[in-house]
Amino acid sequence: MNPLDDIVEAARVAFSQAPTPADLENAKAVFLGKSGQLTEMMKGLAALPIEEKKVRGAAINVAKQAVEAALTARRQAMVDAELERQLRAEALDVTLPGRRVAVGGLHPVSLTMARIEGIFGSMGFEVAQGPEIETDWFNFTALNTPEDHPARSMHDTFYVEGESGGAPMLLRTHTSPMQIRHAVQHVKTHRARLDAGQGMPEIRVIAPGRTYRVDSDATHSPMFHQCEGLWVGEAVSFKDLKVVFTDFCRTFFESDDLVLRFRPSFFPFTEPSAEVDIQFQSGPLAGRWLEVAGSGQVHPNVIRNMGLDPEQFIGFAFGMGPDRLTMLRYGVNDLRLFFDGDLRFLSQFN
Ligand code: PHE
Repeated sequence: MNPLDDIVEAARVAFSQAPTPADLENAKAVFLGKSGQLTEMMKGLAALPIEEKKVRGAAINVAKQAVEAALTARRQAMVDAELERQLRAEALDVTLPGRRVAVGGLHPVSLTMARIEGIFGSMGFEVAQGPEIETDWFNFTALNTPEDHPARSMHDTFYVEGESGGAPMLLRTHTSPMQIRHAVQHVKTHRARLDAGQGMPEIRVIAPGRTYRVDSDATHSPMFHQCEGLWVGEAVSFKDLKVVFTDFCRTFFESDDLVLRFRPSFFPFTEPSAEVDIQFQSGPLAGRWLEVAGSGQVHPNVIRNMGLDPEQFIGFAFGMGPDRLTMLRYGVNDLRLFFDGDLRFLSQFN
């Protein structure tokens, strides 16, 4: 093989083995650069006689074109490979299974709350919301609960640093403060009518929400839910409360096969007071009395704190536990399951 063919062959090999565009340009310099092999040969022509110069010059040019062609081909191959790589990286495999979007659902206690609101709403009750951080006035004092009542002890109540207008702050231990808050607002709205001796529309309200006590076991959680109910008018009676509450329970549990009893009890803010028990006549819970709410006739002192005259107005209140209602409805036996956030448990309710 003549030396020019060797050079062309060496260039082809060098170009094809160059792994990157930069390596390819370095390899090019070896043959076509300022002091590359073919360039040096061209320089050498100067010393030759004219005839030989023509022949040799033409041969070198042929070799040079072959090297340039090999270079161009390799450059193009590199561009093509890069494009191919990019396309491959961006490729969509339309046959892959889709990524599942997890669908959330309502918490079982939220489902219960919504049910309670719906049922009482259909019976003409408003729904009111109040603060979870309360003053001791609304939580205790206004509810006829004396200074030395055990519920006020540090063992039972979460007190919060700071105060509001000189009054200690706490996490409400029940939703009963909403009796006062809502009634005061209602009375304010109808003040003019009341002052003119025209009475006022009845108060009929429920107040669901979170409540807090220093308590924790299988049936008590430091955070739990309550739903307050209040009905104040000039001619309301325990009988009305019993009818409404029986209707509520039958609708809530989707069972007409259920009876209700009032069991005498004590709350500072009601007199007389009663626990509400229900009993299913059939089904897995049949025959047992189950406590579902506290209730009673609103104490005259509380009626006064609402801004009303206890000689004219009479009220009935109840406070029920939506957590317990949820446990009964679904047959759950540990309250803590509701607040552990375990999706294996929670996803069963939707
Ligand atoms: N607040 C009471 C409790 O937490 C329940 C209750 C509400 C009782 C309304 C009577 C009237 O136990």
